[in-house]
Amino acid sequence: MIEVRGLTKVFGTVTAVADLAFEAAEGRVTAFLGPNGAGKTTTMRMLLGLVRPSAGVATIGGRRYAELSRPSSEVGAVLDTAGFHPAHTARDHLRVYARMGGHSRARVAEVMDLTGVAAFAGRRTRALSTGMGRRLALATALLGDPAVLVLDEPGNGLDPEGIAWLRGLLRGFAAQGRTVLVSSHVLSEVEQVADHAVVVRDGRLVASGPVHGMYGRPAVHVRSPQAARLRAVLADADTETDTEEAGSDRLRVVGLTPAAIADLAAAHGVPLHEITPERPTLERAFLDLTSTGTGGQGGGA
Ligand SMILES: Nc1ncnc2c1ncn2[C@@H]1O[C@H](COP(=O)(O)OP(=O)(O)O)[C@@H](O)[C@H]1O
Ligand SMILES: [Mg+2]
Repeated sequence: MIEVRGLTKVFGTVTAVADLAFEAAEGRVTAFLGPNGAGKTTTMRMLLGLVRPSAGVATIGGRRYAELSRPSSEVGAVLDTAGFHPAHTARDHLRVYARMGGHSRARVAEVMDLTGVAAFAGRRTRALSTGMGRRLALATALLGDPAVLVLDEPGNGLDPEGIAWLRGLLRGFAAQGRTVLVSSHVLSEVEQVADHAVVVRDGRLVASGPVHGMYGRPAVHVRSPQAARLRAVLADADTETDTEEAGSDRLRVVGLTPAAIADLAAAHGVPLHEITPERPTLERAFLDLTSTGTGGQGGGA
């Protein structure tokens, strides 16, 4: 369990994180979402004891990072700065970290298999692609078989196949009862893997809760040669309707199912040429939440 309470970080005149509070529970993948500059990395660095909070506290299993007795066995982290020795091979790198953390040689082989590093174990780290570097960083984080994983934008540099693989790995971890906190500014990377999402903007919490609760209200696209009449019929039915393009034959209807719209149209003799439910996307909700101005729905920790 990760807990963040009143967490604040001020860098000079920039408030990177402002009175942030959220939790990431065991057995769950929690997405930490927000546009670039929202304060995700700073929050994770505070959680990992790399940045001192200006106020508030971030704990892992109830303790601050500095209070953990065997940090590499309790929390595994992948931050954007990898810091591999360029002349080391991927395998060397893992062996050095295993020795520092008191983990076995056998564990090095295990994490190489788990992360796909085995395929390039003999390659020098300076010759690794970005994606390979992400896999090696993840392998390093897993050496201590930690119950908590903290990953900062792990999808960066991974190809779609790599992202799909990562999703499976994170799901597997959560299914074992571990805690996974994974940040991203690209919602689609984590949308399919996260149970919970914490959304930040300008260092502040804008929404947190189950991902399924963050979708907007479903809308239906309707096309009719008598759009104006349809609009009047729907207005009487007390729905929100808005024309997509001025003067067009299309309406976007919120608050009624496709069947209800079709029934109303039929009852009033209004012909329909098309009726298409809009697939609600978290992307849309995310954009609404993170755009400046209106806050959108959601909220509460
Ligand atoms: N060491 C630092 N010194 C000054 N400002 C910083 C520092 N680290 C981050 N910031 C600023 O804090 C804000 C949040 O940054 P960051 O946590 O990296 O956001 P994110 O990871 O969500 O993109 C940004 O405005 C960034 O410029
Ligand atoms: Mg960042």
